[in-house]
Parts: sequence; C-alpha cells; structure tokens
Amino acid sequence: MLPFVYEALPSRVVFGVGSLEKLPEEVDKLGATRALVLCTPEQRSIGADIVVMLGARSAGVFDGAVMHVPAEVAAAARDKAKRLGADCCIAIGGGSTTGLAKAIALTSELPILAIPTTYAGSEMTPIWGITEGGVKKTGRDVRVLPKTVIYDPALTTSLPVGLSVSSGINAIAHCVEALYSRDANPIISLIAEEGIRALASGLPEIVNQEIVKQPRNLDARSRALYGAWLGGVSLGAVGMALHHKLCHTLGGTFNLPHAETHTVVLPHAVAYNAAAAPEAMRHIARALSARSAAEGLYDLAASLGAPVSLQALGMRREQLDQAADLAVQNPYYNPRPVTREGIRGLLENAFEGRRPASAG
Ligand SMILES: NC(=O)c1ccc[n+]([C@@H]2O[C@H](COP(=O)([O-])OP(=O)(O)OC[C@H]3O[C@@H](n4cnc5c(N)ncnc54)[C@H](O)[C@@H]3O)[C@@H](O)[C@H]2O)c1
Repeated sequence: MLPFVYEALPSRVVFGVGSLEKLPEEVDKLGATRALVLCTPEQRSIGADIVVMLGARSAGVFDGAVMHVPAEVAAAARDKAKRLGADCCIAIGGGSTTGLAKAIALTSELPILAIPTTYAGSEMTPIWGITEGGVKKTGRDVRVLPKTVIYDPALTTSLPVGLSVSSGINAIAHCVEALYSRDANPIISLIAEEGIRALASGLPEIVNQEIVKQPRNLDARSRALYGAWLGGVSLGAVGMALHHKLCHTLGGTFNLPHAETHTVVLPHAVAYNAAAAPEAMRHIARALSARSAAEGLYDLAASLGAPVSLQALGMRREQLDQAADLAVQNPYYNPRPVTREGIRGLLENAFEGRRPASAG
C-alpha cells in the first residue's frame, strides 16, 4: 500500500427525511441563541419557515444570497449579522447560500449550521469564495466549515429535475477527481466510490418519476443527497485536477453554464486520464456497473437527458483553440501530463459530444 495522509474535518451531520425538525435542538447544541437565517430571494418562503421554527432562537433573516458571493452582498450580510447580534448563521439553500455564510464566518468566526437543498456539497468543505470586480477569490480556512449540517431529503423534492441532474453530476465529478487526486487516500476513495454509486442509483429514478408523473420518491432523493454529501466530503478533503480546471476555464472565459459544462466535460476528462489512473477507473466503473469509467459516465449523463456536447451549450468551434491555449497556461496537478495537443483533442470530442472510446 502506498503511503498517504488523511485529515478528517470536524463536522456533525444529521441525515434523514424529516431531520429538519431537529433544527432547534441542533442550534441549542451549538450553544447559539440568536441565529441569522440566510437564503436566496427565490427561497424566501422556506427562510421564513425556518424563522418560525426557531422562534426566540431567531435573530432575523437575510434573503439576498446570490451566485458566487459578490463582495457587496457579503458586506451587507456581515453588517446585518453584527447589527442583530447574531451568534450563528443558518444557511438554507444551495452552494450560493452556504457560500454567503462562509463569507460571514471568515471575518466573524460565527458558527454555521447548513441545511443544503442542492447537491453542490459546499457544506462539507473549508473552501470559501468571494467575487470582487468580476474576479472570484477563493481560499481554504477551517473556520468556514459548517459545524453542523442537516440533510433532509424532503427539502430537495422542489429542486427541478434538470437542476437535480446537473447538480448531481457535479457531485459525481467531485468523487471522480478525488479518486485520482494528488492527495488521494484509501478512506476518501471509499467515500468517493460510494458517492458515485449512490448518485448513479438515485438520479435515474428522480428523472423517471418526472416522466411517469409518479409521486415524488423520497428514497431516490435520499440516495442522491447521500451521494452529494459524500461528494462534498471528497471535495473538502483532497485537491481536484483537470476536469475542474477545464470547467473553470470554459465557464469563466466563454460564459458557459457551470453545472452543464461539468456534465459534458466529465467523461472526456476521465477518458484523458484513464491510462494514467487505472485504479481510480476501476472504482468509478464498479460504482457505475459499467465496462469503463468514461463510457459509464457518458451513458449516465445521456440517459438522464443531460447535454452531452459543448456545441449544445453554445460554444463555437473557433473557440476551441483559445480554450486549449488557456487550459495549459498555468500548470497544475493531473495524473496524466496536460499537453496542448491532448487538451485540444479532448475539447474536440467534448464539442462534438462523442461517446468516449472504451479504453477508459
Ligand atoms: N466552496 C465550495 O466548496 C463549493 C462547492 C460547490 C459549489 N460551490 C459554489 O456554489 C454555487 C452553486 O451552488 P448550487 O449549484 O447549489 O446553486 P445555487 O445555490 O446558486 O442555487 C441555484 C438556484 O436554485 C435554488 N434552489 C436551491 N435549492 C432548491 C430547491 N431544493 N428547490 C428549488 N430551488 C432551489 C436557489 O435558491 C437558487 O435560486 C457556485 O457559486 C459554486 O462555486 C462552492
């Protein structure tokens, strides 16, 4: 066995349908008495429900969370927390809302109780991000890691199916890259493989229920949320590689939609790395019950009705050369060396939406 380093991050997880009911006692366990509730404008009504549930434990609500945590939104939320004398933040929502709580914790050290309603996984990571002047600054700081996370699958039934799929595949990408990370270790590999398995089992049922108009199946939602949790653990524990860097470049430079770009690129990034990370490929393929990791990921996305080509996301063929140039500008860890020619080939396949060859 190869030597490794494993660092466990301290957080308490309360999981299960109906676990939202435990919120007041979980706030008490944190020793908090004045919680500021954070949400997006779209999730204002659930934010208001939380305030009612908290009763005297609530300091108020800030319902201005938006994508990528703009610095001015972070400043307004920090001011409100201070003005109200809040001693904890409750973030109910997706990665944008959790990100806002992290921005508050970064300067105030207020503990965070997160209640995720998407599969982004930010609640399990010490990674923060704040956007100023169009540039997103990110960092790692254990003070921003939520102290308590309540995962209630019932809260995810309102997540539209398309968003469930792209958010879910994004969570799979966290697991996939953890398996061939520079910091990969046997504990996180177990977690990551199980995360892929849980998401690959839950997502098709979520899509199918929508097609056949079945009542919403909380069991499938539970499996997907469980997988998303494990994806968040993987993302928080070890560094990512080619897939995440490439999606960041494509999203940032060509304004492609974040989650859908992940969905399209993942099988191709995995095919690129297949020969250099055979053990990771075995974990992925086993979790998907597929012949190969890259094929399995492509087939999963296609079967869920997700986009499979960059072309379909609005990218233009003449942008591929620029994308390849940008992708090799700053060196970073990847199991297979990142070359201009290799990335150009990967992008071509992703642009056309080709099913990866079975070599992976
Ligand atoms: N720091 C980290 O570790 C980390 C990890 C993953 C993602 N992120 C960040 O998170 C952000 C994306 O998060 P996201 O994908 O969760 O999207 P989001 O938080 O921006 O949510 C998207 C929209 O969906 C709504 N929504 C959320 N849950 C819902 C539900 N159950 N029902 C109906 N509507 C719902 C939100 O209110 C919002 O309008 C990005 O900024 C990304 O960079 C950070």
